[in-house]
Amino acid sequence: MGLMSDRHIYDRSNAEQFAAFADAVGDETPLYTRLGRAVVDDPGLLDLTSGTLPGQPAPNVLFAAVQYLLLGGAPHELAAWYPGLSGTTPPSGDPVPAFADFCRSYEAELRRLISTRRTQTNEVGRCLALLPALAAVERRLAAPVRLIEIGASAGLLLLLDRYHYTYGARTWGPTESPVRLTTELRAGPPPLPAHLDIQDRVGIDLNPIDVTNPDDARWLEALVWPGHETRQKQLRSALGVAVSDPPDLVAGDALDVLPRILSDAPPGAVPVVYHSFALIQWSDDQRARLDRLLSTAGRRVVRIWLEWFGYQRNRPLIRLFDYPDGPADGERLGRFHHHGRWLEWGATGS
Ligand SMILES: C[S@@+](CC[C@H](N)C(=O)[O-])C[C@H]1O[C@@H](n2cnc3c(N)ncnc32)[C@H](O)[C@@H]1O
Repeated sequence: MGLMSDRHIYDRSNAEQFAAFADAVGDETPLYTRLGRAVVDDPGLLDLTSGTLPGQPAPNVLFAAVQYLLLGGAPHELAAWYPGLSGTTPPSGDPVPAFADFCRSYEAELRRLISTRRTQTNEVGRCLALLPALAAVERRLAAPVRLIEIGASAGLLLLLDRYHYTYGARTWGPTESPVRLTTELRAGPPPLPAHLDIQDRVGIDLNPIDVTNPDDARWLEALVWPGHETRQKQLRSALGVAVSDPPDLVAGDALDVLPRILSDAPPGAVPVVYHSFALIQWSDDQRARLDRLLSTAGRRVVRIWLEWFGYQRNRPLIRLFDYPDGPADGERLGRFHHHGRWLEWGATGS
């Protein structure tokens, strides 16, 4: 990975994004790696992604749009390369001709999806990093919290205390939960909350995903990479948990909505604002505005950062910022795999 891989998505052409995506996700999704490299060299396929919404990563949106149509039953030989759809081992041949043909055949639908949909992958595996970060908050605060998620998608991370976790020999959460999350510990051990006291919780999203709407659920499923059966199963289980008591989600730009939500927090509850793979879609100016907003909130706010900028390989960071009604004091807590496969707790490494 060269310098380009650390550059912001706003500074890259779509061709550069596909190249960086293929580079970064290589061994995790061989199909998308192959297709990503093919798109770089195909002006027609690149043009298909010219209408993405601002800040939207072209590879994720194109691949999700294609899978969304396949999940909806679009008949095409390309489905054979998606084990979750075909139920069989993918063919050994090159998927690129089938992919290109699919894109030509469904061009109008794809353009419509690409120009209206967002990368909203709601990955419950990230709760494996959020939970110990909340334990770190608990150690600082010893007070009830109001969880506020920026870029919540369907709000599945907001429900983190309804899932069951295994960290090596330790477990946490309701044993009967259908959502079972496990990670490989690369350092550690991470702290786990002793008395997680969530007074209330709310998510903000430009486009909240409604867990009770089958079309929304299909888009979430389309964002999961082919062959990632465990993630797909976890997503379905988490949606099942959410449907019985959906999270409270507010539609809007977090920078507009957050001031009201911060001032509404119940007395005695400290707002804990977190964002997970959302600021990748923001410009530098938006990120600076968020920092200003939190440091001038007129009250103490804690912020948890779970972000992965620019497809750097395996380097999402877990950070904590404490805004004591002024500029933040920050701490790096660790890093983790972007779907929670491993967790490296502690401030060591690059
Ligand atoms: C990749 S998803 C991540 C979802 C979830 N945080 C997770 O990690 O599973 C990013 C979400 O951020 C939302 N988003 C991006 N910019 C936003 C903004 N300015 N205000 C509110 N939501 C935003 C997108 O709509 C999308 O649902």
